[in-house]
Amino acid sequence: MTQAHIGVIGVGTMGSALALNFAEKGQNVALWNLELDMVDRLVASAGDLSARLQRCESLADLVTALPVPRTIVLMIPAGTPVDQTIAALRPLLSAGDTIIDGGNSDFRDTMIRTKTLEDAGLCYLGIGVSGGAEGARRGPSMMVGGTRSSYSHVAPILEAIAARYEGDPCVAHLGSDGAGHFVKTVHNGIEYADMQMIAEVYGMMRDGAGLAASDIAPVFRGWNRGLLESYLIEVTGEVLATKDPQTGEDMVDLIADQAGQKGTGRWTVIEAVRMGQVAGIIEAAVGARVMSAQKSTRERASTILVPAGTDTMIPVSEHDLQSALIVGRILSYAQGFEILAAGSTKFNWLLDFARIAEIWRAGCIIRSAMLDDIATTFRSQRLAGHLALSDHFIPMLTTHIAGLRRVVSAAALKGLPTPALAAALSWFDMIRQERGTSDLIQAQRDYFGAHSFERVDAEGSHHGPWHAG
Ligand code: 6PG
Repeated sequence: MTQAHIGVIGVGTMGSALALNFAEKGQNVALWNLELDMVDRLVASAGDLSARLQRCESLADLVTALPVPRTIVLMIPAGTPVDQTIAALRPLLSAGDTIIDGGNSDFRDTMIRTKTLEDAGLCYLGIGVSGGAEGARRGPSMMVGGTRSSYSHVAPILEAIAARYEGDPCVAHLGSDGAGHFVKTVHNGIEYADMQMIAEVYGMMRDGAGLAASDIAPVFRGWNRGLLESYLIEVTGEVLATKDPQTGEDMVDLIADQAGQKGTGRWTVIEAVRMGQVAGIIEAAVGARVMSAQKSTRERASTILVPAGTDTMIPVSEHDLQSALIVGRILSYAQGFEILAAGSTKFNWLLDFARIAEIWRAGCIIRSAMLDDIATTFRSQRLAGHLALSDHFIPMLTTHIAGLRRVVSAAALKGLPTPALAAALSWFDMIRQERGTSDLIQAQRDYFGAHSFERVDAEGSHHGPWHAG
């Protein structure tokens, strides 16, 4: 291979896919990985693209293989490995070189790393890369944080490998330092919420209506041609239709019901709570994954916490289930964008919400037809302060809310858990309650702590006559 153009460190699933994508777009890629045999396997399996891949024996080799100013992409696990690799690279690099962290790093780490490296004359970009292995290979959605000038060095390369929505590359510089990883974190929070609501609706069909996975698959495939059109609905239809080659049974029925998580959903909730934002749907999804992992406790509880709900389920139509997902999706996106808005203000990122919605329309895991509507809504700036209160989404919510109500009610009576859908419904009912029940909370606070309250019929701060007698 002639001169390399870009370096990739880490050739796990995502790193390999991204390296091949770079190579396909004409970049010569210098590769290094802690286990070098993984690089060998990648090069051996790359076919024609192998001519553009260069195996490097060491980090120093990789640095030497690159022209100055260098661009090096880290595709390694978040946390300590990123710090260790940066520490090993630093003495080998020159001012003006760019390090890109393309992993799911904590945006707070990215903020610190950006400052340290930019102060040392290096360029640093934290990029949220979404789309899984297939996305990284064929075109991911990329959320970039760092200085605008650092981004300008690599923008053409990133635009070349990005997914495209009607020709528009799904990559954007979103703000300084941790902005890209923050937006990716919230993306993943929404991903968790969407996946959980889909799983709850699947549970209603499996455990409520007694349908087999292969009978549920066509329902999702049908929904993918309507308002719910999205990657995750498509994936669900495909997964449910898949048979286990060994037994011939529906594959999903043979998978243990314990979900993994690497932390980004949880980070979204933590950041939302820190900033005083409501993330109820995402929080329910994270909680559901945690409970799914408590298998032995669930096994014990299933025999002692009885009785379950009613034997028969109140009728819920396919249309109701679809409506429940439509409302749930609108509201989880809305919660996500509220968290983004709070982060933008807190960290002074000036996030462009329309652009975020636009770069989520292709390549990423939460890509969906609805994101195009969200982008248009943000562009039109007819938001009324909240996505759920925009002209576009009000009619959708009012049309479909009855379905969500029926689904959550039926699930509750039957004893089927729908924590994320129920959180969506509770949010809807709380936001539309002109007079809520916090009068009582205020009275309680004043009773035990003399915290005072405002009266509806008089100005100023007041106390109740609680201890008068
Ligand atoms: C993406 C995904 C990806 C994430 C996996 C698994 O946008 O491509 O969000 O980054 O790592 O979906 O995440 P969990 O292990 O936390 O489910």
